[in-house]
Amino acid sequence: MKTRVQAKLFSSIFALTLFGIAPYAAATTTVEVYKSPTCGCCDKWVDHMRDNGFAVITKDVGNKEIREKSGISSSLGSCHTALVNGYAIEGHVPAQDIKRFLRERPKAVGLAVPDMPHGTPGMEGARSDPYNVLLIKERGDHRKDTVIYNRYDPSAQKKASAEPASSEPAQGSSMMRLK
Ligand code: CU
Ligand code: CU
Repeated sequence: MKTRVQAKLFSSIFALTLFGIAPYAAATTTVEVYKSPTCGCCDKWVDHMRDNGFAVITKDVGNKEIREKSGISSSLGSCHTALVNGYAIEGHVPAQDIKRFLRERPKAVGLAVPDMPHGTPGMEGARSDPYNVLLIKERGDHRKDTVIYNRYDPSAQKKASAEPASSEPAQGSSMMRLK
């Protein structure tokens, strides 16, 4: 009996240490992920969300139907769609952007990273491409209607840290290099 209590105590201390830094809200937020049962990168994104303090329920039924139902146009489509606090999240969106979005609670449909860019959470590998996290304001909005919520550009970051402070700001220049 004593050992069980001790074990439980140790595991709670461990959990507290592990998640102590994560914002309280994120630790209790549940995300419902609609994905294909055979998609490896979906599973890796789910792991990324769990690592960042989200509780995740997976539905291995594909995401086409729920994407349409959520008001996300197929031009913004990716391999999985997640539902959280009344919003829809399409594709490999980084957890930190979802946390910020849930804090800000804008009037919007949700966030999307269309397709599956290399270097997104769950798509890590040798290659890292620049990509945008897009804010979808209205149901059915196409890619051109969206607003850039966050931008990731690994090459700009590398350049910025390698070059002296006097060089062109990396943030502004990277915004112009949309592919
Ligand atoms: Cu994927
Ligand atoms: Cu996926």
